[in-house]
Amino acid sequence: MTAERDHSAQASRPRSGAWFAAEARAGMIYRSWLRAEGFTPEVFDGRPVIGIANSWSELTPCNVHLRAVADAVKRGVWQAGGFPLEFPTMSLGESLMRPTAMLFRNLMAMEVEELVRANPLDGVVLLSGCDKTTPAMLMAAGSVDLPAIMVTGGPMLNGKYRGADVGSGTHVWRFEQELVAGRMTQEECVAAESGMARSCGHCMTMGTASTMACLAEALGMQLPGSAAWPAADSHRYVTAQSAGQRIVELVREDLRPSRIMTRPAFENAIRVNAAIGGSTNAIIHLLAIAGRLGVLLSLDDFDELARPVPTLVNLMPSGRYLMEDFCYAGGLPVVMRELADLLHNEHVGVTGNTLAETVAGAECWNRDVIASLDDPVQPAGSGTAVLRGNLCPGGAVVKQSAASPHLLKHRGQALVFDSIEDYHQVAGRDDLPVEASTILVVRGAGPKGYPGMPEIGNFVLPRKLLERGVTDMVRISDARMSGTGFGTVVLHVAPESAVGGPLAFVRSGDWIQLDVPARTLTLEVNDRELAQRRAGWAPPPCSPGRGYARLYSEHVLQADQGADLDFLVGASGADVPRHNH
Ligand code: FES
Repeated sequence: MTAERDHSAQASRPRSGAWFAAEARAGMIYRSWLRAEGFTPEVFDGRPVIGIANSWSELTPCNVHLRAVADAVKRGVWQAGGFPLEFPTMSLGESLMRPTAMLFRNLMAMEVEELVRANPLDGVVLLSGCDKTTPAMLMAAGSVDLPAIMVTGGPMLNGKYRGADVGSGTHVWRFEQELVAGRMTQEECVAAESGMARSCGHCMTMGTASTMACLAEALGMQLPGSAAWPAADSHRYVTAQSAGQRIVELVREDLRPSRIMTRPAFENAIRVNAAIGGSTNAIIHLLAIAGRLGVLLSLDDFDELARPVPTLVNLMPSGRYLMEDFCYAGGLPVVMRELADLLHNEHVGVTGNTLAETVAGAECWNRDVIASLDDPVQPAGSGTAVLRGNLCPGGAVVKQSAASPHLLKHRGQALVFDSIEDYHQVAGRDDLPVEASTILVVRGAGPKGYPGMPEIGNFVLPRKLLERGVTDMVRISDARMSGTGFGTVVLHVAPESAVGGPLAFVRSGDWIQLDVPARTLTLEVNDRELAQRRAGWAPPPCSPGRGYARLYSEHVLQADQGADLDFLVGASGADVPRHNH
């Protein structure tokens, strides 16, 4: 899958020399136009040229401070003797983009990959923040395989409302339930929304952005401690400047992503994800990143590797605290030191040191926030479980730490909806035939069917049950769930209904058995009946007619394969086969 990578050429001559060291007309064109920006000629003396890939955008509030972060990176690059050049990338704002930012993760990955390859860069600093921007950039870095270092933008300050902490995302779902049940007014919701977003930065719960920031650190792609510093903290700029210094050395050492994001690195990341109570979305993103590097990773690896790992980090949505607390308690190095017996401690990341060396001095300052292995927040085996069964032959996932324990083993009758819109139309009706024991099934929300696999898996419960005080029900879909969400929700059912997965053949009234301890999800319909239903099934007319959405629909892989585009799996390296000067 992965092309053989020749690291020797890079070590002997900076890649950018093919542009700037050229003689006659070609070199003149490359240098002259860049000098229009006012650089002195020494920038072309063979020093490493460092791209700063910036996903800043006012349409991505979580990344809106990244111009300032880029300035700090530049300071570091200049200090270390490099030549920094910042460039804009596509940006994906989770909260604003429709139909879902996930539709565009692969487009952003493709764009960043091509920009890095096409330009005279020797290394790149990746500035990300909001959910999809981090995995997109890591996917790109894997496919180009030039020295790279990630700087995530850091979380917002803790949200506050009426004297209590409120977590971005997590409290949106809670407030929605309270509003629907009539226990909160619209005016109170408006007051809460401003207290929930007190500064720049990404969601400060252990949602997908915080999870992916932590996993970028666990993979070894960002500096130790970098994931947790709040966006508004001066340390965010210290870590950015340090990354600028370090990327210049990485180029000189020729330490590339393919030597950092190895199978042991992914195993470390999977175990860290279990310990931090990380997002279910991490599974899809890690599978996609691994696919770019030719690292063989399967859905079952996530279950097997996570089983011996207890939840150590007490953050919403699984726990009680927020990222600011996590930072002040010591951040990810404490978690990785605590997990030492379960990790590959010889792994070398962007620091150039082993993991053991990197976390040796990590101290925990608050055991309420980061628990010890001896006294965890939740016991081993309480992380995200991978389910198998006739309803999900390609697998499905459920986040146990965010689920209700009494529902992890549950048998109920299905109430089926072909789309989330169909469900929303009736969710408020008094005559909806639903009880607390009902299993709500929403299909048509997978990668191809929606398209883009939206985060609707933790959809709000029917109003009449909320009014009765019901707070959780088993929900099953081929969708994803926000990393900030919670509930007993079975997600990522594969194959999805739109491609004829068994989810397409479930009917209201069918019995379904969920047994998370046994890792099974069973539709109690015999094979013969299922075959008959399949014979009468026609795929929904879901293919977009043109543009990127069509390309995506025609090539997207299923959730258990990372939902990348089939032709983007693997790497092309940094070589540019032809040029026009
Ligand atoms: Fe950007 Fe949550 S909306 S990280």
